Amino acid sequence: MERIFIFDTTLRDGEQIPGACLNPREKMEIALQLARLQVDAIEAGFPVSSPGDFEAVKAISEKVKAPTIVALARAVRKDIETAWDAIKKAERPRIHVFLPSSDVHIQKKFGTDREKQLERGLEALKFAKSLCPEVEYSPEDASRTDPAYLAKVVEQVIGAGATVVNIPDTVGYAVPEQFGKLIAYLGEAVSNIDQAVISVHCHNDLGLATANSLAAIENGARQVECTMNGLGERAGNASLEEIVMTIKTRKDYFKFHTSVNTREIVRTSNLVSRLMGMPVQANKAIVGANAFAHSSGIHQDGILKDRSTYEIIRPEDLGITEHTMVLTARSGRHALKDKVSKMGYDLDAQEFEAVYERFLSVADKKRQVYDKDVDIIVHDVIFSHLVNSKAYTFESYKLATGTHESPAALVRLRSEEGTSEASAEGDGPVDAIFKAIDNVVGAYHKLEDFQVKAVTETKEAMGAATVRVSREEARALGRGSSTDILEASAKAYVEAINRVHYLLRHRSEASHSDNGF
Ligand code: KIV
Ligand code: ZN
Repeated sequence: MERIFIFDTTLRDGEQIPGACLNPREKMEIALQLARLQVDAIEAGFPVSSPGDFEAVKAISEKVKAPTIVALARAVRKDIETAWDAIKKAERPRIHVFLPSSDVHIQKKFGTDREKQLERGLEALKFAKSLCPEVEYSPEDASRTDPAYLAKVVEQVIGAGATVVNIPDTVGYAVPEQFGKLIAYLGEAVSNIDQAVISVHCHNDLGLATANSLAAIENGARQVECTMNGLGERAGNASLEEIVMTIKTRKDYFKFHTSVNTREIVRTSNLVSRLMGMPVQANKAIVGANAFAHSSGIHQDGILKDRSTYEIIRPEDLGITEHTMVLTARSGRHALKDKVSKMGYDLDAQEFEAVYERFLSVADKKRQVYDKDVDIIVHDVIFSHLVNSKAYTFESYKLATGTHESPAALVRLRSEEGTSEASAEGDGPVDAIFKAIDNVVGAYHKLEDFQVKAVTETKEAMGAATVRVSREEARALGRGSSTDILEASAKAYVEAINRVHYLLRHRSEASHSDNGF
């Protein structure tokens, strides 16, 4: 059985979702979990895009062993140099250079012609190769490129040293049979095709990303680029869990295998969903909450008689266990430490103590602490304090409200300059709190999205709030949790505006109109 290489791009294409904006510590946590999942390559970021991304990719390259660490670069000298600086300490570094090959991109975006574009790509590739032995080349928008020209590009970049050539369906336009034929055609038309791994990178605009990727491997592709939970630009990328579990479940048909440890899939999915603030839809294949929920009586009867009647995947193969230990205030440090590390978090002693303290106060209030509560506590204690610019910390709020009264909130925040308070009236209690926070900060933020969810199903559940805000061109996400949902909302709002503040101060250095090599 031949191996299919799994290239995870959650931290690069996945992170292109507006407002996802992971900080370096969050990126590291996800990268460590992807290493536990045993993916073959982690595309850790686009280092030239911001100093924060550069730092995150560099830190991941130094710490995360086993998978290849990939950095993205346009066919621009500065991008390639920066990508190399970020990954040069990795055990297995790879520079990923991309340049469009479709006529529409060449003419409309670059105002040039096919020959000049190919020359530019080759020059960039050779430069990347002079720095790094492993270089991947992506002719962007390959699925809408003239196949004969695409074959020429692929042959020449392999000739110039590309070790992996990726065929992206950048706009999610491909359909499986046609995309499979394109890969088969390249296999025949490119004389040196055996000297590189052919990869595919499919977007999900028509909901076909998984099907297109599978059609490609049936026709010669041996690397699949994908993201956890299918996150990514617009409708997202091919979903890692769908690709891996289809190959595993239907090995009778595909006759391939991957190196992925599928028992880490659900843990990875939860971590990514939580840190990126992107809830997984309940009916999502493989990792949705209902993926194993059998509701009809006929199905339940079948399952009770023999699980194979209605289940094609064993939940335990994804790491779903029924025996979750519930913690209480008396569980002690050891049990909490064990739980936190089984959940995939890598905390140092000081961080653990901070988590333990918060755990005790939550356990006092709600007696039984579930995995989801622990997850939220870790996030709140560790990650929200690592927001890139911790400009403000939420301290407290007071609220006066009633059925026929406009709510009025008084909020206190702390910053390096000390504590400050401000008040505001609002249409509802949350609105009043958010307005009061804006008054403390002295800036208005547009609320783009606001959600509060009970973390577990009990009456004493913790509330987890997610807030997306924008100011000028910066958009960011914030999360907060508490047994008091107004406090959770206030914390989330403060985290989001801290991130906006950071983004406005560290605007991208890369000029996206700069296409020159
Ligand atoms: O979708 C795309 O074409 C990309 C490239 C950078 C590979 O993400
Ligand atoms: Zn992409």
